[in-house]
Amino acid sequence: MYGLDGPDALQGDSLGLIRGIGDSLEAFDEARAAAEAAEIPWPADEIDSVAVCGMGGSAIAADLIFGAYRERMLKPFTVVRDYYIPGWIGERTLVILSSYSGGTEETLTAASQAIERNALCVAITSGGKLARFYGPEGVPIVPVRPGLQPRAALLRLLVPMLVVLDRMGIIGNVGSDLEEARGTISTAIAQMGPDVREEANPAKQLARALSASVPLIWGAELTAPVATRWKGQFNENGKMPAYASVLPELDHNEICGFGGMPAELAHLAKLVLLREPRHHRQTERRFDLTRELVEPNVSQVLAITAEGQSPLARMLDLVMLGDYTSLYAALLRAVDPGPVEVIERLKERLAQTGYGRTAEPPS
Ligand code: F6R
Repeated sequence: MYGLDGPDALQGDSLGLIRGIGDSLEAFDEARAAAEAAEIPWPADEIDSVAVCGMGGSAIAADLIFGAYRERMLKPFTVVRDYYIPGWIGERTLVILSSYSGGTEETLTAASQAIERNALCVAITSGGKLARFYGPEGVPIVPVRPGLQPRAALLRLLVPMLVVLDRMGIIGNVGSDLEEARGTISTAIAQMGPDVREEANPAKQLARALSASVPLIWGAELTAPVATRWKGQFNENGKMPAYASVLPELDHNEICGFGGMPAELAHLAKLVLLREPRHHRQTERRFDLTRELVEPNVSQVLAITAEGQSPLARMLDLVMLGDYTSLYAALLRAVDPGPVEVIERLKERLAQTGYGRTAEPPS
């Protein structure tokens, strides 16, 4: 059995993602300062709607913000993971182009359409074609430190996005939430960092419980996109299958499948419930009742409840746990959490067909 404690435990983490989480506060502060300093000429009262274009680690930041702040959003907000942008995006839409690398073809293609429609674009990126093509076109760029894995740069994308949304009057008064969130991150590192031994470390314990399973992660409301983040982190860090679903929707379809779960899958499936204290009363009941219904068809159910006052803190409390857990799960599975070769290979093959290279700036 692989150990998670001791000097050699992190040897399999070639890109240092686990130690890297220890720099989260620095990342948070740098990202906040960059977004506050960015020159964004768009007047807030000219914005009718918001679209964030991005993929993978660069898109989930927007989902997480929407999940946490959906009731405080003052304008319609959508996340576009697509080559095509919706027809309603136009001159009064704030379009946030989020690509850590600045080289993702879907985002570049969406960007060219948004520019053609004279949308009010802002890019959050470490560079790439996104900065090279559209910086000179007048798109304000919020710079992000290069050289990281996009999913490990979540705070470097999420914090600027939130600050831009605050500055543009889409979500008000996030200042005190950001302060609390810093505390949440710092506590998470102190409780779950690699130097905290397994017997006292909730992320290492959870990784031990999940590393040989197929996690089925359920969220609702604020925790719905957190479930997607956990799923993605298990996939990319742990190199393992994992699935995310959302209440109340899954009560209208997915629960029907559990009765027919093959024994081999039931043996592997572990249900993870991501809960938080401010769920709708009926959502609370749904978590309890649905759990009762499906429990006989999975090997274990684990329930986790977010802590924190502000929605940002509660969301990040769970995100930090999921990030650490997925990284420790990789070590237990004897896989390197950092490189995502299959994603890179696919991107290269797609670019060979020409599309990625033809995402040229508007003439
Ligand atoms: C890799 C990762 C991916 C990327 C995605 C889009 O760590 O998280 O999901 O985020 O392939 O690339 P970027 O973020 O560079 O636009």
